[in-house]
Amino acid sequence: MKKVGVALLGLGTVGGGTYEILVKNREYFRETLGLDVEVKAVLEKNLDRAKQLGVDLKIVSTDIADVVKNPDISIVAEFFGGIEPARTFLLEALKAGKSIVTANKELFSKHWYELEAAAKQTGAGLYFEASCVGGVPIIRTIEEGMQSNKIEQIKGIINGTTNYILTAMSDEGADYAAALKRAQELGYAEFDPTADVEGFDATYKISILSTLAYHKRVPVEAVKREGISKVDAVDIQIGKELGYTMKLLALSKNVNGKIEARVAPVFVPTSHPLASVKGSFNAVYLHGDSVDDIMLYGRGAGALPTGSAIVSDILFAAKQSEAKRYPYAEKGKSDLKEFDTDFVSKYYIRLKAADEEGTLAKITHVLGKENINIESVLQKKPISSDNAPIVFVTDKTAESNIKKAVEEIKNLGAVKEVDALYRVEE
Ligand code: NDP
Ligand code: HSE
Repeated sequence: MKKVGVALLGLGTVGGGTYEILVKNREYFRETLGLDVEVKAVLEKNLDRAKQLGVDLKIVSTDIADVVKNPDISIVAEFFGGIEPARTFLLEALKAGKSIVTANKELFSKHWYELEAAAKQTGAGLYFEASCVGGVPIIRTIEEGMQSNKIEQIKGIINGTTNYILTAMSDEGADYAAALKRAQELGYAEFDPTADVEGFDATYKISILSTLAYHKRVPVEAVKREGISKVDAVDIQIGKELGYTMKLLALSKNVNGKIEARVAPVFVPTSHPLASVKGSFNAVYLHGDSVDDIMLYGRGAGALPTGSAIVSDILFAAKQSEAKRYPYAEKGKSDLKEFDTDFVSKYYIRLKAADEEGTLAKITHVLGKENINIESVLQKKPISSDNAPIVFVTDKTAESNIKKAVEEIKNLGAVKEVDALYRVEE
C-alpha cells in the first residue's frame, strides 16, 4: 500500500469539501487504488472551523514551514484563494519538491509560468483540475481525452455564481442583489463577488483553458471582459419573448494560430443546450478538428463538487512517476496585440426612440449604410412621446461595424438612448 501524505492550505468551502471526501473515502481509495491518503497538516486560521470538520488540532497551524519541512508530505493542496500568501507558500512547497494541487484560478492564471518554472527545478508536479469548471474534469479531457485533436474552439458557461443569478432572474424574476446573496450563502461566490459578477473569474478560467487547449500562453489581459452587473431585467424578459436566454459565456477560438478570447453576457437561443444549463451548473463545448463538438456538463462550484476535482488530482498526482510539463506556460510575457480581433456575431440592440413617423426608417438607414442586415425588429408600445422602446436583432456583423453604427444611431435626434447591446450566439 502506497502511503501519501497531504497538506491542505485552507479549510473554507473547497478545503472543507476536500477534507470531507478524503476522510469518508479513505478506505475506498485504499481498496480501489492501493493508495492510503492521509491529511498530515492543515493551514487554517479558524480553529472552530477545523474543530467542526473533526480535524485533529495538533496538525493545524498557519506556518508553511510545518508543511515544507515535513518529509511525510508529498502533495500540497491549496484553497486559500487570492495571490498572497498562496503564491509564496506554493513556491516554497515546489522548491521542497512537493507537488501542488490548486483550485486557485486567479493565482494559477496569473502565475502559471512562475509555478511551472519552480516545479521544473525540482521535478514536482502542478495539478489544477479544480481551477476551471468546478467538479467537471475539463483539464483532463483537454489533456488526455482530446490530445489527438487540434482544439479550435471553447465555448461555455464557466462561472456558477453568475449562472445562478441569471437563472434566478430569468426563471423566478428574482432581484439581482437577492440572487447574488443566495449564491454567496451557498458557497459559490468568490470572497469578493466582484470577481464573479464582473467576469474576472471566468477570464481566469478561459485563460487557463485556452492556454492548455491551444498550446500557447493566452494571458488573462488578452481576454476581453464584460460582467453581468449592468444587465437589466428588461432585456432578460425581452430576450425571452424573442426566444433567447441570457448567459455569461466564455468563448475562445483558434483560427489558424490567431486566438481570440472573451467573456460577456450574450443571448443564446432558448432551444440551445446551453440555455438549459441552470443554477450553479456549468457546461462547456470543446470543438476538436477530428472529434467535432464535445459538451461537458456538471457542477461548476460548491464544496463537494470542487473537492471532487481536488481529490481526483491528489490521487492522480500520487500515481505519477514523472510530473507533466507545460513549456509554453513558462513564457512570462506575451504581445497583447497578437490577440486583437474583430469579433463577428449577431447583435441585439435595445433603444429608446421618439414616438414619431420616420424614426424606424432613420435607424434602419444607418444599419443599412454599415451593411448590417436586420434579422428581426420588435417595437414595444410607446411609454411616452420620447420613449418608444425598439429592439433590433441583426445578422452577423463585425464588432467594429456594430459599434460604429451604434455611435451614429445615438446621434440621431430621434433616438434618446441606446440602452443595451448584446451579442447573440447560435
Ligand atoms: P473560502 O473563503 O471559503 O476559504 C478560504 C479559507 O482559507 C478560509 O477558511 C480562510 O480563512 C483560509 N485562509 C486564507 N488565507 C489563509 C492563511 N494565510 N492562513 C491560513 N488560512 C487562510 O474560499 P473557497 O473555499 O470558496 O475558495 C478557495 C479557492 O478555491 C479560491 O481560489 C476559489 O477561487 C477556488 N474555488 C472555489 C470554488 C467554490 O465553489 N467556492 C470552486 C472552485 C474553485 P479565513 O476565512 O479565516 O481568512
Ligand atoms: N466563484 C466561482 C464560480 C467558483 O461561481 O464559478 C468556482 O470556480
